[in-house]
Amino acid sequence: MHPLAPTLRGMDNTFFGPTLRLEKSESLLGDYRRWLEARNGPGFATREARMRSEFDASRSPTSVAVDGARVNRNYADFREKDVAAEELALLAFAKINAGEAWGVEQLTKVREKARAQPGIAAEVETIVTGEETFHTRLLVGAAGHFHDTRGERLAITGAWTPPAPLRVLIGGLAVAPRAVFHPLLLASEVSGVFAFDWLLRRLSTLFPSAPAVRESMEARLTEVLIDEVGHITFNRLLVGRAGRAIARALSPNIVWMQRLMTPELVALGLDRHQIARLSGFSLTSLPEEVRRRAFYA
Ligand SMILES: [Fe+2]
Ligand SMILES: [Fe+2]
Repeated sequence: MHPLAPTLRGMDNTFFGPTLRLEKSESLLGDYRRWLEARNGPGFATREARMRSEFDASRSPTSVAVDGARVNRNYADFREKDVAAEELALLAFAKINAGEAWGVEQLTKVREKARAQPGIAAEVETIVTGEETFHTRLLVGAAGHFHDTRGERLAITGAWTPPAPLRVLIGGLAVAPRAVFHPLLLASEVSGVFAFDWLLRRLSTLFPSAPAVRESMEARLTEVLIDEVGHITFNRLLVGRAGRAIARALSPNIVWMQRLMTPELVALGLDRHQIARLSGFSLTSLPEEVRRRAFYA
């Protein structure tokens, strides 16, 4: 082995770098479960309360005007690209978790029977899956900060259909053995965090005349990011060194797939140059609030 190798490995603090030693992973899973229970409350009661107190857009005093019919046309099929960046951000919010939520729903149906024996990982998996429904509500709920040309609060009613590459990925995951399943999920969670973090940074220059709307959208992404870092941790604890290497190799492809699934991200500037940042992307890349509040190991 090259004399520098251990040092280089030690320096790999990306999400695909080494986890704490395997014998600790069972107790870390226990810690994560307790953290999830405290964050969400029994039956997600704490979470529901926070949705009402912090994320009810109908109570927001400001809202931004958009062409509601055009938003819904673009939600179903993104063709009209000559729209303001704020409208693109709203569309990205509506679509970015739709793929993950759809995928999780499909996988839950197919894999329920195949799930490993009841145990702490299965219990954690159930809570993690439950968190996805909140992500969709948080992100699609941002539409409540917009009104259409008649002055009515915007409702996203267009039909979203899973794009072909996502159907292929989920079809593969559904039948994948556990040794491949968790590395693929790890790659998907890291790619998701990368895209959410990128969108969060992109928001900072948007909504110059409606800062309250921008702050609410930032808070929604921050809430999602805190959960997703936990999801990364969960999958990290379930894969070994080979699994992390597979996940690392797959993650740029999954970000490319996200560009196909959410073309609004491309229109907002998520290009090849931006995606190259993925190779050094780590916990330290994330906003301080996310690092402070998330569960990471
Ligand atoms: Fe999510
Ligand atoms: Fe997730």
